[in-house]
Amino acid sequence: MSHSVYSENPLLTPRQDHSIAPVSVDLLPQHLAIIMDGNGRWAQEQGAPREEGHKVGSEVVNTIVRTCRRWGIKHLTLYAFSEQNWGRPKSEIKALMKLLDQYLREQRSEILEHRIRLRAIGNLSKLPFWVRTPLQALIKESAQAQGMTLTLALSYGGREEIVKATQKIAQKVQQGQLSPSDITDETIQAHLYAPDQPAPDLIIRTSGEQRLSNFLLWQCAYAEFDFLDIPWPMFNEEALRDVCLRFASRERRFGLTSAQIDAKTQKITSS
Ligand code: FPP
Repeated sequence: MSHSVYSENPLLTPRQDHSIAPVSVDLLPQHLAIIMDGNGRWAQEQGAPREEGHKVGSEVVNTIVRTCRRWGIKHLTLYAFSEQNWGRPKSEIKALMKLLDQYLREQRSEILEHRIRLRAIGNLSKLPFWVRTPLQALIKESAQAQGMTLTLALSYGGREEIVKATQKIAQKVQQGQLSPSDITDETIQAHLYAPDQPAPDLIIRTSGEQRLSNFLLWQCAYAEFDFLDIPWPMFNEEALRDVCLRFASRERRFGLTSAQIDAKTQKITSS
């Protein structure tokens, strides 16, 4: 096997230009969703408290949001706090809430300047008011933005989202507004937290764990998955670039055959 001079000496590796996407926009995931895992373990391995991992993790959030926006990824959803995370030690919850508040304050001008639409999915009423207030204010302020949509999954659970949707649908049935036989997958979709949002094309998880942990359970039906061994604080533009290259090389068939997909693509490109 021949090694290039670059792979033998990492110091000689040419720096990638991360301002441009590694593939054309139509080959990028239109909606990328990320399970940002491994903050706590990464910090503990450095002999630091878990909160330090979340702090570095939130700096990685800044880098990745900026890179996705520059590359033209239209929707980015970040799993920042799950319903189940409320069971963590109070001090860790407080540190995470403080980081969220800090993120909203520090990134507000960049979000508005770059016409990012901020959204949040989850049981937001559980968030402390000092996080909920700036969050809802920025969601409102950026509601008409036409750039990238950044969705924070906060106090979020996929099962809880489906349960809430089911309750709303059952209420409509009870009130005679809907007949059970008219319930379709569009009906369920219409009662989710962000009904108008396209499903994720790609879900990635850092830290080596290969599970969904209650993330976007309804929406993930045809998502591609990529599990990375590195913890979230070590995720960077280079890793995102590799993820996008792998995604671009996959064939998504949505239950059809390869030949059918080829015929569809030819039809689109020749029309
Ligand atoms: C999972 O790692 C990560 C979280 C529960 C929180 C993610 C939050 C951030 C990256 C920072 C704040 C977010 C924003 C949007 C500013 P873990 O703690 O479960 O790691 P472990 O599996 O190693 O314990």
